[in-house]
Amino acid sequence: MRVVRRVRTMGYGALWPLDRLFLWLNKLSDYPPIHLRRHVGLLGSGFNGPDYEFATFLRLLAGLKSGNSLWDIGCGCGLLQLALANLGWEGRLTGTDIHAPSIRWAQRHLGASLKNHFFEHMDVFNAAYWPSGKLTAEQWLASFSASGFDVVVAKSLFTHVLPDEMDVYFRGIAPRLKQGGRALLTFFLLDEEQQQASAAGSAVFTFSPFEKDARCFVRRQVAPTAAVAYPRDYIIERLVAAGFRADRITVYPGSWSGRADGLSVQDIVVAER
Ligand SMILES: C[S@@+](CC[C@H](N)C(=O)[O-])C[C@H]1O[C@@H](n2cnc3c(N)ncnc32)[C@H](O)[C@@H]1O
Repeated sequence: MRVVRRVRTMGYGALWPLDRLFLWLNKLSDYPPIHLRRHVGLLGSGFNGPDYEFATFLRLLAGLKSGNSLWDIGCGCGLLQLALANLGWEGRLTGTDIHAPSIRWAQRHLGASLKNHFFEHMDVFNAAYWPSGKLTAEQWLASFSASGFDVVVAKSLFTHVLPDEMDVYFRGIAPRLKQGGRALLTFFLLDEEQQQASAAGSAVFTFSPFEKDARCFVRRQVAPTAAVAYPRDYIIERLVAAGFRADRITVYPGSWSGRADGLSVQDIVVAER
């Protein structure tokens, strides 16, 4: 695995001059280099599109306004922060992620130039994303003193997190929101409609029960956190157990499951404290 990582890093190093040229030609010179974009799964020419999409969802679905305080948990290299800033949003933004190179880049390039944007590394162990992490999510959250957020966003984070750790994050997010504050979280949710679409062969991904934990479903048993799915009712139950209001949880199904009317690719859940 280490050898594969090293070869991949060398490959991206060789592509660096071309990538810089690509960014410059497309007026994207303030964007991160290819190896960090790849870490969040976004390559190709339209790589910044989903972040503009989510900047809009944050306003429309979670009520984000200028002047608000926003926590982006699992922020990667800060692509959402760039989109929000380019769209004129001004507020206090805290971005946290376990991938140290992404956070270092965001601190140097965004934290230094965007007013009130702060980035903090979560030194949380994760076999796939941060194998040298020294803390558990619970330990890191105990050291993270920020709170009073108007909105928390986790885009494409819980699609990589297993049940026990997800519970820890839910219990860390809810009390850090103001009363009436909202969390906008994405998932792969399993329900009857999704099963029908999947059986008809229209789903982008299919999931099977995780052999080591019956509460979730995975695409690959050997690399479970590559993509994790949950029954829809289970997620709602866990959000309520963490302190979100049962009557203020809304699900916006995504298109990954084969639904023709998906709002985004992943399913979006907006939950209010
Ligand atoms: C698919 S990327 C999405 C990044 C960013 N939200 C975006 O949409 O561009 C998933 C991010 O979650 C982080 N991550 C993965 N597993 C995590 C975990 N267990 N705890 C915290 N962050 C995690 C990764 O480092 C990565 O940056």
